[in-house]
Amino acid sequence: MRCVVVGAGAREHALAWGLAHSAQVTVTPGNDGMRAAGLFCTSASPLDLTADLFVIGPETPLVAGLADRLRAQGKIVFGPNEDGARLEGSKAYMKELLAAANVPTADFGTFDNPDEAIALLRRFSPPYVIKTDGLAAGKGVLVTTSLAEAEADVRAKLSGDAFGDAGSRVVIEEGLAGEECSLLVLCDGERAVPLVPAQDFKRAGDGDRGPNTGGMGALAPLSVMTPALVNQVMHDIVEPTMRELRRQGIEYRGVLYAGIMLTSSGPKLLEYNVRFGDPETEVIVPLFADDLSEILFAAANGTLTEPPRFSTQAAVTVVLAAEGYPTSPRYGEIISGLGEDGQLRDPVDGVTVFHAGTRRNEQGDFVTAGGRVLTITAVADSVESARDQAYRAATTVTFPGRVMRTDIARSVV
Ligand code: AMP
Ligand code: GLY
Repeated sequence: MRCVVVGAGAREHALAWGLAHSAQVTVTPGNDGMRAAGLFCTSASPLDLTADLFVIGPETPLVAGLADRLRAQGKIVFGPNEDGARLEGSKAYMKELLAAANVPTADFGTFDNPDEAIALLRRFSPPYVIKTDGLAAGKGVLVTTSLAEAEADVRAKLSGDAFGDAGSRVVIEEGLAGEECSLLVLCDGERAVPLVPAQDFKRAGDGDRGPNTGGMGALAPLSVMTPALVNQVMHDIVEPTMRELRRQGIEYRGVLYAGIMLTSSGPKLLEYNVRFGDPETEVIVPLFADDLSEILFAAANGTLTEPPRFSTQAAVTVVLAAEGYPTSPRYGEIISGLGEDGQLRDPVDGVTVFHAGTRRNEQGDFVTAGGRVLTITAVADSVESARDQAYRAATTVTFPGRVMRTDIARSVV
């Protein structure tokens, strides 16, 4: 099978790596780390490429209708059309759909007027949750126990300075408490099947302190997410959502990422993303026991049958980020500890390096070129071993200002 992967980050590196076990893969545009690992990267538009399967990684092209345009050319595409991608493109639309489908989620209100938003905030108890309505790369959410900080955030977001158009409306939510889980499901327009449950670590600092980021690490499987809970989420959250999408005439083919809070009154939906999670993909793909290209093709083609099978091992990934991430990352620092193939110079068992934001300079050195720079994944027989191996590897890869959490998956082992 020939596959095209669209995107340039560690998620796309992991997808391309997984697909390349059985398929011939082209990545557009890809990055220098993927190229070094032997993956074919091109700057050609996916609209000008030919393949049996197109896999779209990031949300931005999905929200902009890339899947629609590829499908209009008769191509088989993994990723929803623009109509389905609104689930991530607009939190207000998502919350309205959840209400229509009767899906358990936090109470909320949507506002473009700061005084009305603040009036609802004052009715809720802490923590206060303020989200920009549009796409903000995981950085548009504030969760705080300080009402003053929450009010200031509402005013800052609605002033349009922080997120431009994406911030012209805010969603105010009831704060939920509990363990978070990322349950990604594959959808073929009719059926939805779950992948191995994962958890990401969104805050920038150890102990879940600091600002929300795109994610600083991840692990899978997540043992608190038992098979019974997965069934409950499928039944109470994912299936009603799929029915409501179909009722609205939306045929959703791709991955639906359910961000779940396991509250004392059961699982509740925090958010939907319409693409693979990053860095969750970097722990989910290495655990696939079935052929990734076959299963993504089946979802894209409307012919999904059984849920994919996963290895009984565990995976942990640790993100190395640039100084200043998530607000103002510094680029261009030389990375040491990588070989010619972009992998560890001193290999560690079970470890793969996925490149998020790197490029090669004229001397051939890898340098930092993004807020998240590298994700280092280890697969082992237990979460504890995977964690040890991921950190053993991560400490050998350095660059000035490197930021890395030291407690990824620690509470689990
Ligand atoms: P989102 O982009 O909507 O997933 O929000 C990013 C992160 O903010 C989530 O992963 C949670 O950690 C946190 N969060 C979002 N909504 C809530 C909520 N209603 N209550 C508590 N925490 C939340
Ligand atoms: N890891 C969070 C996300 O992909 O949105």
